[in-house]
Amino acid sequence: MPIAAASLIIKNASQLVTLHDHKKLGPKHGAEMADLNIIKNGAVAISGRRIVAVGESNKILKQVKTTRKVRVIDAGKRVVTPGLVDPHTHPVFAGQRAAEFEQRIAGKTYMEIAAAGGGIISTVAAVRKATKNALKDNGRKILDRMLTYGTTTIEAKSGYGLTTSGELKQLQAIKELNEEHEIDLVPTFLGAHEIPPEYKGSPDDYVALVCSEMIPKIADRNLAVFCDVFCEKGVFTPKQTRIILQTAQAYGLKIKLHADELSNTGGAELAAEFGAVSADHLVFVGEEGIHLMHKAGVIPVLLPGTTFFLGMERKAPARKMIEKGLAVAIGTDCNPGSSMTESMQIIMTLACLEYKMSPAEAISAATINAAFAIDKGNEVGSLAPGKFADLLIWDAEDYREIPYHFGGNMVESVYKKGIKVR
Ligand code: NIG
Ligand code: FE
Repeated sequence: MPIAAASLIIKNASQLVTLHDHKKLGPKHGAEMADLNIIKNGAVAISGRRIVAVGESNKILKQVKTTRKVRVIDAGKRVVTPGLVDPHTHPVFAGQRAAEFEQRIAGKTYMEIAAAGGGIISTVAAVRKATKNALKDNGRKILDRMLTYGTTTIEAKSGYGLTTSGELKQLQAIKELNEEHEIDLVPTFLGAHEIPPEYKGSPDDYVALVCSEMIPKIADRNLAVFCDVFCEKGVFTPKQTRIILQTAQAYGLKIKLHADELSNTGGAELAAEFGAVSADHLVFVGEEGIHLMHKAGVIPVLLPGTTFFLGMERKAPARKMIEKGLAVAIGTDCNPGSSMTESMQIIMTLACLEYKMSPAEAISAATINAAFAIDKGNEVGSLAPGKFADLLIWDAEDYREIPYHFGGNMVESVYKKGIKVR
């Protein structure tokens, strides 16, 4: 079958890491995560923004022989993978929290710093003062770094405004960055990220504000796809979380949850109850939470950068979730407090070393499963006909070199929707 429409071919990949099993679409569950569906000496044919074929180089080249105007790039016996997908980020903020970083090294915990008026609230103060354009300028720098490190799609949360206008400002910044930047951003409303100082004595009134004003306005202006809540001791209780999620669903938002990050608050169970697309963090999740997430098809998004950066002894039980057949995803949690990194490469290394995931499992978690964790699995996350031509050529011959060679940038070139952007 000739692929007459191909405009670009990338050939001669030592390993074309497709993550595409044509017999089984959807995320990779459990043991499936170890199979990257590699085509040796592979090639990918692209027409405009989308992939039209993947296969062995000689076969693909034969299929497109009849066309003249096709550009051929030689991957030079290097690894080619899909663009990385980061399913959990807080990339639009102002200021930095390096002083807290230093305090934590000296022994203060994240929650102690938050209780003393630092933490999320200190970023909230900076974001409230910042203009939308200042938020965009800072966000753009973060997105530029992400793209350089090979991330081509992200989820992006609000949650540092905590007023109607502040949340709208952040979501508007995310919307404009999505229009202007090569990276695709999927917006999440996280107005319930923290109880703002002015509501400390009356958190239920803040929940009411989120439900009666913020969610309706955000839904009306189409500024978010997901609604997320930080369900945690001292933040939002399961009861308050339930009220917010019910309202969000009534307004057509899909659900994500910061669940069981610093204690077991029943977050995973709640995510399952609401049919959440993902439940994130899960450091303290129990057997029952894992079981219910599995039954409800909730994707666990694990954030090994956060446990590392906060110096937490305990880690999310990644191996147990994989053994139980869940489709584990990983993300950076990029934010100024608990995980200040843009690099999914470092996250893959931490997933391997600290969460005991194999290199193949980490790559599945950072591509196809991450794509499904933001409901974009039909567009990105694998190299398959019909999907966007988001792909990376790595300075590596074997995919295991990607998490193994840590701390730098192993990405050689980045293609977003068929265009070389780095
Ligand atoms: O995912 N847990 C709540 N939110 C972020 C931290 C945000 C911040 O500290 O600014 C997290 O860890
Ligand atoms: Fe987070």
